[in-house]
Amino acid sequence: MTDSQQERTQSRKPRRILITGGAGFIGSNFVHHWCTNYEGDRVVVLDALTYAGNRQNLASLEGKANFRFVRGNICDRALIDSLLREEKIDTVAHLAAESHVDRSILGPDAFIQTNVVGTFTLLESFRHHWIEEKQPATYRFLHVSTDEVYGSLEPDDPPFRETTPYAPNSPYSASKAGSDHLARAYYHTYGLPTIITNCSNNYGPYHFPEKLIPLMCINILLGKPLPVYGDGQNIRDWLYVGDHCRALDTVLHRGRPGETYNIGGNNEVKNIDLVYRLCELMDELAPELPMRPSRQLITFVKDRPGHDRRYAIDATKMRQELGWTPQETLSSGLRKTIEWYLNNRNWWQPLLSQEYQTYYQKVYGQVEPVN
Ligand code: NAD
Ligand code: DAU
Repeated sequence: MTDSQQERTQSRKPRRILITGGAGFIGSNFVHHWCTNYEGDRVVVLDALTYAGNRQNLASLEGKANFRFVRGNICDRALIDSLLREEKIDTVAHLAAESHVDRSILGPDAFIQTNVVGTFTLLESFRHHWIEEKQPATYRFLHVSTDEVYGSLEPDDPPFRETTPYAPNSPYSASKAGSDHLARAYYHTYGLPTIITNCSNNYGPYHFPEKLIPLMCINILLGKPLPVYGDGQNIRDWLYVGDHCRALDTVLHRGRPGETYNIGGNNEVKNIDLVYRLCELMDELAPELPMRPSRQLITFVKDRPGHDRRYAIDATKMRQELGWTPQETLSSGLRKTIEWYLNNRNWWQPLLSQEYQTYYQKVYGQVEPVN
């Protein structure tokens, strides 16, 4: 724990926090972060356990007196109303979402339901709860969102700032943009203490195998092709998930209601260069591989429709107003991540289920390698 965190822990009043999507990738990392740093807080996780949610991610917390897991949907108003009241929730960290761009292209319906209708349901329920409790100034609703709402950058454009106009390009980013607008409107119309964060690409432990970094690591271990979309020149700005969790913690404690904060790692990398780095690290760290050097597995495949070319975040506001900076470099974070996937095969192997194979077939099965 850092000095400032220790100081905060000693002087703060315990919170009663509802974390939605707490069984997912960032959500579960955030739940562990919170339970480790704020042992006196009540932590309630609400998660529907879709394909992306995994209760195993929270196994070490089950049975602890201050922790409760509830399987349920954020669109279920009656459930949320009763949870907020019964648990006397004063803080919501809203991470539940449909989060994968490729899945939003295959089937956008669930994205509109969960990301737009679900966020609306939570906001509306929390608003009534806040009014019933006489509108305490300490209540917070943290809406966790993405840099994808800003659209795509040209090579020489400056990174996204909090003032960059929204220009979402996929059903996923459009649904997240809609939910951001609702969170903003609830502050301006009702005074509900909402705060929005827009973060760049995360990576780290508990990342579901269909996203780029875990997919590449697992395919290297299995000796399967490494599918790189288009020309591999698309750029993403990578942030280690633990740094994102510290940023969310900082925003919840020190962020100003009604504000938006951009969070990013200042690590812009072309996809193909990232895949090369992953191959090199896997060659170094994995004791046995079906194909070595693993870069021989790289296969360029048909591009993702509407594929955004470049994302980059300007996190100056986080640094200057709230004093947050990332602790991991891309090298240290990737190394930690690969070591985690090598040491936790029993976590990811069961996730390569029939449903996963069907999804994989839909996305990659019909595309011809073009190299
Ligand atoms: P994820 O897909 O790994 O996890 C989402 C979780 O939400 C899962 O546990 C799932 O079961 C749950 N969920 C889905 N629909 C639900 C519903 N209707 N009701 C209750 N629970 C439901 O996602 P993630 O990568 O951890 O992302 C978390 C949040 O952070 C999302 O809002 C996402 O938009 C945002 N975000 C993600 C990244 C990233 O790189 N992964 C970057 C920036 C922002
Ligand atoms: O920018 C933040 C966003 O990052 C989050 O809001 C999303 O929830 C999260 O999923 C992530 O979206 P991306 O589309 O950027 O992530 P993904 O891991 O799917 O892809 C990263 C890049 O790699 C992207 O340019 C597409 C490319 N890619 C991805 C896969 C899965 C490939 O080239 N091949 C692949 O097989």
